[in-house]
Amino acid sequence: MTAIEFVQGDITRQSVDAIVNAANSSLLGGGGVDGAIHRRGGPEILAECRKLRASHYGKGLRTGQAVATTAGKLDARWVIHTVGPVFSRSEDRSELLASCYRESLRVADELGARTVAFPAVSAGIYGWPMDDAARIAVGTVRDTETAVTEARFVLFDERAYEAFAAQAR
Ligand code: AR6
Repeated sequence: MTAIEFVQGDITRQSVDAIVNAANSSLLGGGGVDGAIHRRGGPEILAECRKLRASHYGKGLRTGQAVATTAGKLDARWVIHTVGPVFSRSEDRSELLASCYRESLRVADELGARTVAFPAVSAGIYGWPMDDAARIAVGTVRDTETAVTEARFVLFDERAYEAFAAQAR
């Protein structure tokens, strides 16, 4: 059984085995939570991302996929980078967003991570409406079989926290 928790705060401050990053396919950093993770985690994370680009991910990480690196100076042991879809009104990309959570949990299981913190993937710069992002995120984690014992959603502001916490039951 995976316990699902909701906290308002900064994901880079969480003491968990793995932190999920809302990255982009370049894996080479950006703004939002991605920028915060690289800033606080230090250059080791980017160095591993560059190695991944040079080896398995020459064309970048595809939307809906996930891959792990060190967490550098963060308390966590690993960062699991996933690429959320950009929100679209004309095309339903929900399955890709669900895939981010499923694939992140699959990578966590491969690593042996038991506690994992998630941000609201796609709900910032990528424009996904928060309530819908929360429904997909929590529903997918709830329905995914995993050895992860705690999935902690870390929401940056109160509005996001309320949207996610409303999914609890
Ligand atoms: N801790 C927790 N949540 C955070 C933090 C933090 N430190 N900082 C921001 N958030 P976003 P996306 C929230 O934009 O929509 C980057 O440039 C934020 O308020 O980080 O998937 C990447 O490189 C929002 O609710 O991710 C990509 O290019 C949520 O995290 C692109 O942004 C996600 O917002 C990905 O966009």
